[in-house]
Amino acid sequence: MNANAKQVAIGSDHAAFRLKQIVKDWLIANGWQVEDVGTYDERSVDYPDFGMKVAGLVSRGVFPKGILLCGTGLGMSMVANRFEHVRAALCHDLFAALMSRRHNDANILVLGGRVVGDVLALEIVRTWLETGFEGGRHQARLDKFDCISRGEDGKSSTVEQG
Ligand code: RB5
Repeated sequence: MNANAKQVAIGSDHAAFRLKQIVKDWLIANGWQVEDVGTYDERSVDYPDFGMKVAGLVSRGVFPKGILLCGTGLGMSMVANRFEHVRAALCHDLFAALMSRRHNDANILVLGGRVVGDVLALEIVRTWLETGFEGGRHQARLDKFDCISRGEDGKSSTVEQG
């Protein structure tokens, strides 16, 4: 898959269903191809079921990016970051959205539907999708994430400061 493809998988639980619909409509209106894994109404569900779907799609490279929403964003972050190759960032301000892309190459954006207002949420989404990864020393740091799956301690430090 082309990492720059305008394709995004999105999922939420009931607590953020309303915001998911708003974000989804915005994405479609702005030319994104959206895979909505649910939930599809406000009946109570378990957020891991939907977090696993989106994180799985991103982890396997089926989608380059994902967006997850729950009440606080915390539960979805915890679930998503258990998946290999997933770097999920919970962002409730524009600076976090910007830096999670520039420095962390976040591939899943997480939002709390009970935390942010609709207008701020859409600005966070826009900023996150439009911001590129800076690479360089930041890539070297991300490479160290693989030490975790290899069972290494990752303590040696060879990257430049800054
Ligand atoms: C659901 O009540 C709530 O716990 C969930 O949306 C989320 O905030 C969990 O982290």
